[in-house]
Amino acid sequence: MVNNLMPWVGGKYRLRKQILKYFIEDVKQYVEPFVGGGSVFLMAYSTFKECNDFILSDNNANLINAYCQIRDNLSEVIKTIQLLEHERYYEIRKQFNSSFNECSPQQAGTMLWLMGSCFGGVWCLNKKGEFNTAKARKFKNKIKYFKRLQELSTILQDPRIKILHQDFHVTLNNIDIKPNSFFFFDPPYIKGGGFLGFGIQHHELLLDWCKYLNEMGACWLMSNAGDEIETMYIDFIIDKKWVQRTCGYSIISKNFTKEYWIRNR
Ligand SMILES: C[S@@+](CC[C@H](N)C(=O)[O-])C[C@H]1O[C@@H](n2cnc3c(N)ncnc32)[C@H](O)[C@@H]1O
Repeated sequence: MVNNLMPWVGGKYRLRKQILKYFIEDVKQYVEPFVGGGSVFLMAYSTFKECNDFILSDNNANLINAYCQIRDNLSEVIKTIQLLEHERYYEIRKQFNSSFNECSPQQAGTMLWLMGSCFGGVWCLNKKGEFNTAKARKFKNKIKYFKRLQELSTILQDPRIKILHQDFHVTLNNIDIKPNSFFFFDPPYIKGGGFLGFGIQHHELLLDWCKYLNEMGACWLMSNAGDEIETMYIDFIIDKKWVQRTCGYSIISKNFTKEYWIRNR
């Protein structure tokens, strides 16, 4: 079974089974506006069998291009990955940065290959906004990986799924909200202050959306971290979780950090 597109910074791959316990029943519309590596979406997809609509979005253009090309041009994506050589990692990374945000199967294949070959499988940008994670292991087990991509491609071709390159606010503005809509929010956390340019004003806007969705009778669940959460979300249900920090698929610290899982029902 395919569990995600790729490991992602802040990805919920390891926590997805715990998140599953918070899913409500009878969801007809599932919305995830910070989809990242998609591990929660894939679990939602296999859980909400009666759901008519899966709306996935993220403001990372390269990431959304990868989803769209896997859906529409998988053979070209695979062809690109097959041609890339570990010894040329830094040259390939430079080429990728020179066509940053381009919508093409080559850009998608190169991104997937870089993520499978870089240190910790982590998407990391420098101050100029270029992908700059260092080279690590050789891209391994391509046959198994291509099988997973094929499986993901079949899922993404389901006409009930919409994949959008958008800011979360735009996505939420365009949704026809219904009482059986379920929203999963996994934004860059407040803790750390302004990660990925997502500052306190974005969190305040997201809070306004949460209040509005609640008034409209929809259900939402959010993962976040930072002491401000307890005051900001005082009107909602907050569970504290102690989790280990991960990088790609690996746990990188023995220590546990506090996260908040907030929901309106
Ligand atoms: C913590 S990650 C989500 C991880 C995801 N739940 C997973 O399991 O892989 C946060 C995501 O929010 C996206 N993001 C950051 N700012 C955004 C914005 N203003 N609008 C939409 N997406 C945004 C990032 O590109 C990133 O993919």
